[in-house]
Amino acid sequence: MTPTHLGPAEHLFSAEEVETAIQRMAVAINEEMEHLTPHRPVLLLCVLTGAVVVVGQLMPHLRFPLVLDCVQVGRYGDETSGGVLQWRTCPKESLAGAVVLLVDDILDEGVTLQALQEYCMVEGAAAVHTAVMVRKIRSRAIDVRVDYVGLEVPDRFVFGYGLDARGLGRNAPGIFVLPEDG
Ligand code: IMP
Ligand code: MG
Repeated sequence: MTPTHLGPAEHLFSAEEVETAIQRMAVAINEEMEHLTPHRPVLLLCVLTGAVVVVGQLMPHLRFPLVLDCVQVGRYGDETSGGVLQWRTCPKESLAGAVVLLVDDILDEGVTLQALQEYCMVEGAAAVHTAVMVRKIRSRAIDVRVDYVGLEVPDRFVFGYGLDARGLGRNAPGIFVLPEDG
């Protein structure tokens, strides 16, 4: 157990381990996306708020032209189990004809990522690639496609590296299990 400001918590991954995983993900993304859009930058969509850290770390490793935009949705609020997806902010850039790289912090049930993929396609995206920093090891009713995964975690509520527990813990240096969910 490691002391955190959310209490003593199981430390699943150190900051170095997360950074290494993000760099590995960047290599895989580069291999597939570098040659896709010579005439138009990729639209990198950061899923606020949790993906700010992974996007900030991933971006300097990406070797193709890109435009950064954000989308904000949430289904947790102050809870640690998911509810209805709420839209807060739409992207400012047009998605029509764009190759999109959608980056989120974590894949849990898959509701968020699937809804965002659908949204991008409805808005006319030419292709949607998806990346998550962390994927929970669990069964899913939704068969959501994820192209790039950084790390896998057990089916617990985790925080750190952008992931929050009731708004806190996003700045924790690594990935931790919320004490009450350990
Ligand atoms: P999904 O829609 O169930 O896949 O949940 C994905 C979203 O819920 C992510 O964008 C996170 O914001 C949030 N989330 C899911 N599980 C966790 C967790 O363990 N810690 C923090 N946030 C989580
Ligand atoms: Mg989120």
